[in-house]
Amino acid sequence: MFTSIILAAGMGTRMKSDMPKVTHKVCGKELLSWVIDASVAAGADDVVAIIGHKADMVRPVIEDRAKIAIQSEQRGTGHAVMQAKEYIRAAKDCVVVLNGDTPLVCADTIKAAVDYHKSQGNSATVITAELSDATGYGRIVRGADGSVLKIVEQKDATDSEKAIREINSGMYVFDSDALVFALDKLTPNNAQGEYYLTDTLEILRNSSKKIGGYRLEDNDEIRGINDRVQLSEAEAIMQDRINKCHMREGVTIINPSSVFISADAEIGRDTVIASNVIISGKTKIGKGCVIEMGCKLDDAQLGDNVTVTSSVILKSRIGSGTSVGPFAYVRPGCNVGKNVKVGDFVEIKNDNIGDGTKISHLTYLGDSDIGRNVNFGCGTVTCNYDGKDKYRSTIGDDVFVGCNTNFVSPINVGDGAYIAAGSTITDDIPDKGLAIARAKQVNKEGWKGNKYTK
Ligand code: UD1
Ligand code: CA
Repeated sequence: MFTSIILAAGMGTRMKSDMPKVTHKVCGKELLSWVIDASVAAGADDVVAIIGHKADMVRPVIEDRAKIAIQSEQRGTGHAVMQAKEYIRAAKDCVVVLNGDTPLVCADTIKAAVDYHKSQGNSATVITAELSDATGYGRIVRGADGSVLKIVEQKDATDSEKAIREINSGMYVFDSDALVFALDKLTPNNAQGEYYLTDTLEILRNSSKKIGGYRLEDNDEIRGINDRVQLSEAEAIMQDRINKCHMREGVTIINPSSVFISADAEIGRDTVIASNVIISGKTKIGKGCVIEMGCKLDDAQLGDNVTVTSSVILKSRIGSGTSVGPFAYVRPGCNVGKNVKVGDFVEIKNDNIGDGTKISHLTYLGDSDIGRNVNFGCGTVTCNYDGKDKYRSTIGDDVFVGCNTNFVSPINVGDGAYIAAGSTITDDIPDKGLAIARAKQVNKEGWKGNKYTK
């Protein structure tokens, strides 16, 4: 339907960052990725990113989702677009120009601007907005009949032009042949000695081509990000959009301003999310879950009816009906079954845990394969690290682990085994075996009590 060209070669000096501006993130997704995704969602059949400053750090963000054109010297927005000329010539239909630092632009807006451009029979359409403070933006100069005459940059504007409130968003739709025509005629005759993309409109108009302006209702969409303050403002707006989107799909979010959900997260209906929750990465939460106060879930996969309270779950799967926390730490690589209890002050790492197992309190299980319906008493520890290497242990189904047990890995515990409280297990236990591994109690008779005893 159209080719999208995204300008992303600039330095982004005001970010005061070692990273290129467009690689900074809003809601867990890079600024440039938002714009690429919006282009694709709007129906772009080709996306071209113009990169330059620290290009090697921008490439991994783009992956294979866009073609890349390099602008090695930043000589203006028009010069940037010139770098994509071969793609513009090859464009099947029109060309949309977007900015890599404007992540709030919506796919629907891009689509509507393209439709407007076509319905008006324009050669170029600039997307505009009305701002109470237009400082820094190019101003849209319209004629008496309301038609767009040209765009004047702040630095080149007269006082009466500076008073104009309709501004250039920096986003445009062009007919591809018109854009090639105008780029070929572009010169850097302005206050900054740059090739202004904005000048292409005047060039087209002077060649009797029709140019127009498409005015937006929602000014948030044109917000460019230049510094960390604007980055946080965009984060808040995007977060609000994401949260509302989940709420409209049937997720209850009790206190949305304290809930951060990444762009890629999926949440099932009738799930309830309480305050101070961070859901990041590609987290997927099933239906009817309760994510209680103070949780962080990163790349976590939760089944249905899972309860998580004040806990951290990283890169792990949690089966349906399982409860986690309060104050549990599920570290990467756990595959927890259904109806499991991962209770308070429990840390698990790189474990497979079978259905119905209960790890109720104060326990560390690492690098272990654990069966079904195992009951861990309070204070169980897998001693999986000898200071140099890590070892795995296997614990069968229906095992009862008494309180304060240590498993010195590697250990194999058979199905149905029973371990006496306070045992330090250093040898394998057979199926249904009883293991007692602790010093025998000694009672001294006739003891007269301690020195405080009256
Ligand atoms: C530009 C517009 C202005 C508009 C504003 C909207 C021009 C001349 N002016 O001004 O009318 O109101 O955007 O935000 O176009 N870039 C490159 N290579 C370059 C120069 C810029 O890739 O050589 C990229 C930047 O990284 C940025 C975008 O183009 O993503 C806009 O550049 P910027 O310098 O911010 O333009 P403005 O002066 O803000
Ligand atoms: Ca800018």
